[in-house]
Amino acid sequence: MLSSHVLDIKDLKTHFASRDVDIPAVDGVNFHVDAGEVLGIVGESGCGKSVTSLSVMGLVPSPPGKIVRGKILFNGEDLTKASERRMRKIRGNDIAMIFQEPMTSLNPVFKIGEQLIEGIRIHNKWPKKRAYERAVDMLKLVGLSRVEELMDSYPHQLSGGMRQRVMIAMAMTCDPKVLIADEPTTALDVTIQKQILNLMKRLNNELNTAIILITHDLGIVAEMCDRIAVMYAGKVVEEGSVLEIFQNAKHPYTKGLIQSVPDMRVKRDRLYSIPGNVPKPGSIKNGCPFAPRCEHAFTSCTEEMPELLMTENGQKVRCWLHQEE
Ligand SMILES: Nc1ncnc2c1ncn2[C@@H]1O[C@H](COP(=O)(O)OP(=O)(O)O)[C@@H](O)[C@H]1O
Ligand SMILES: [Mg+2]
Repeated sequence: MLSSHVLDIKDLKTHFASRDVDIPAVDGVNFHVDAGEVLGIVGESGCGKSVTSLSVMGLVPSPPGKIVRGKILFNGEDLTKASERRMRKIRGNDIAMIFQEPMTSLNPVFKIGEQLIEGIRIHNKWPKKRAYERAVDMLKLVGLSRVEELMDSYPHQLSGGMRQRVMIAMAMTCDPKVLIADEPTTALDVTIQKQILNLMKRLNNELNTAIILITHDLGIVAEMCDRIAVMYAGKVVEEGSVLEIFQNAKHPYTKGLIQSVPDMRVKRDRLYSIPGNVPKPGSIKNGCPFAPRCEHAFTSCTEEMPELLMTENGQKVRCWLHQEE
């Protein structure tokens, strides 16, 4: 059956083997993204956001990592069943990813131009000159100037913000259907961060690229995203439109995250933070993994895992307070 979503993730489980236990880093995740849409994935560090995106890209370090269950449907094709050869093709042409630290995807010993041209020519059998022109165009598109000079530079000669733009240019050279951006601006200062986000938004508008934006910054989500999936301990605990989530979050974890956002209008002595820490994957055997940190927890919460259920307005929530709706 063909899915109408460009990317549709169903019951994804990605585990890491360590000695004799399995660490369920991603533990039954469901979400989808449509063409032209920006989906935000939020949650504290260690919730499984990066492992989810690496799973989509077929880049989970294996061993010890392994997708043990579920489907990753890209235009209906299940990527969990794709060969490495097919995945290389998908990664270059259809789904691109940008990371927090651009140096991990730029090769320090090659000039920017060489890397861009090589990337373009792997996927299009174009002559060098045409690939060069395309590379120059992409660098201009991401707002870089003096691009001929840039083409001739090594990554270390660029600032962090410039490298991040180059990485976006690189990701966009193949005109991907899906762009996964994992904390793309965390390492950058606020002004550059804003420019990079505007750039991504523009690519999303102009080229209809579906974007999955992973961030722990709810301010960015409010500005950039159409929909949000909130992850906790390897699971999606709430999902809905940005408007619904910010106005009417149902899961106590989501409420806690929203409460932790600094609000310029409200003067507080100290910023709220959710008490406690994200549990290690698999360490909570029974019930909701958020229960130990949740002020509303009652008996059911420590006994059985609630399901991700749809509420009357289309929002989804995994919480015993909302299992009746
Ligand atoms: N290579 C690995 N080996 C073992 N465990 C890992 C590995 N990579 C990630 N994990 C574990 O998977 C969980 C989710 O990690 P991650 O997806 O990076 O979280 P997030 O991106 O939300 O901060 C964490 O508990 C982390 O320790
Ligand atoms: Mg991460």
